[in-house]
Amino acid sequence: MSHQALVKKANQYLSAHRREVNAATYPRFHLAAPYGWINDPNGFCHALGQYHMFYQHYPYDAQWGPMHWGHAVSTDLVNWHHCPVALAPSEDYDKDGCFSGSAIEHEGKLYLIYTGHVWLGKAGDDSAIREVQCLASSEDGIIFKKEGVIIEPPEGIMHFRDPKVWREGSDFYLVLGARLQETDTAQILKYRSKDLKKWECMGPVMTAPQGEAFMYECPDVFPLDGKFAAALSPMGLKPDGIERNNPSITAMTTSDDQNHFDPQGLFEIDCGHDFYATQTALAPDGRRIMTAWLAMWKLPFRSYRDNWCGSLIIPRELSLKDGKLFQKPVQEFYQKLLGAKQEFGTVSVENGSFNLCSKFKCRYASFTLDLNGAENAGVRLGDALVFYADRQHGELSLLRLDKKLFGARSVKVDLSVPHKIEMIIDQSSVEIFVDDGLHAFTAAFYSKRRDKLDLYASNGTAKFDQVTLCKVKECQKKRSFDF
Ligand code: FRU
Repeated sequence: MSHQALVKKANQYLSAHRREVNAATYPRFHLAAPYGWINDPNGFCHALGQYHMFYQHYPYDAQWGPMHWGHAVSTDLVNWHHCPVALAPSEDYDKDGCFSGSAIEHEGKLYLIYTGHVWLGKAGDDSAIREVQCLASSEDGIIFKKEGVIIEPPEGIMHFRDPKVWREGSDFYLVLGARLQETDTAQILKYRSKDLKKWECMGPVMTAPQGEAFMYECPDVFPLDGKFAAALSPMGLKPDGIERNNPSITAMTTSDDQNHFDPQGLFEIDCGHDFYATQTALAPDGRRIMTAWLAMWKLPFRSYRDNWCGSLIIPRELSLKDGKLFQKPVQEFYQKLLGAKQEFGTVSVENGSFNLCSKFKCRYASFTLDLNGAENAGVRLGDALVFYADRQHGELSLLRLDKKLFGARSVKVDLSVPHKIEMIIDQSSVEIFVDDGLHAFTAAFYSKRRDKLDLYASNGTAKFDQVTLCKVKECQKKRSFDF
């Protein structure tokens, strides 16, 4: 079948089945596929007058399968309008998947650069694959025409994927992830082009120390507040204390030289359980905005049976202050999605709990948490999760109460001072921001009993200041899939 016919088939399937997603768990304001599976965000950009978000998508089931590119557009980064599927695997060079990539506007057209993936042996056998970088273009930003392979892998590299493109002056650059076969070492390779079609390799901008990471997925290199940042999803790093405990992590390192990044400088971007494959875009007003997959490889993925699986985070504004990364939900989230407000003022809780009335199904909660000598204090969301400060460990932690999921994820903080906490609670996910974005925790959860929101304290009296709850409005156009 032709590419257009396969795209049409996918769109018809989505239209016919989109009402079958489980409305009780489907995200109300996070972007998810109308039906089926999502993983990495792709092609996040502002182009042809609006924001575009593409994503790794299998439209026929809530499981990973031959990758398509789903597509949504937005004028404000928080209300998304579903568009037809943009790419479907159809050619010899991408027949087993249109893997991750990025997008750029050039001469009035929107170009996608993505990885064509082919299994050379059995499907799923990672030891025999072919990956090449491919181009597709669109006049209207909606219907894409494939333009073929533009970059072949260099000698000795088989895993070769996830190109992130940008422009500097009249030149285009991209970075992608590569795995050196002989030494099983991860690299970020950089390429340069004049026309998006012919590319020359400029060599590695980052190489993993021998025996550490074996692959850098979804690399992204961008300027940030006077430095250059490389964000990437390294595979193969071992857990290190309270860090790197997820099956896959996403990390950042900064540098003064955009062609050299030190893997020793890597720090995890998000402290939670479900955060992977970031991608950034530049907003027209100069903000650097980051998106990510709100899920994780090797999760039990309970929403398989809900006919949808995976969503993307609320886009975050990035900044660097004193060498530290800050990430905050985009200002449009506060302006457009926050509704009715309930204020509770200061709440002192002594060896017990205080129920925050829960008339809002999806909530934004904010407060300042002062442990004030208590041993442990925080907030509990039904039987889904607890976010708490623990004096003995000097940590803030997020624990999902379902024992089948991984344990608590934590960050060290000074608990002798109060900390500002913001929680964004959707039907099956939470995003938590600490101290105006100095730390973030992102996690999916699968509990139906999530209406109760309690502040609690044990062994002492904790003080919660400026306790506020807001309703979060359903993202307006999420369900208007009508092709
Ligand atoms: C990261 C990733 C990418 C790849 C895509 C396939 O999650 O493994 O490296 O392009 O997912 O869906």
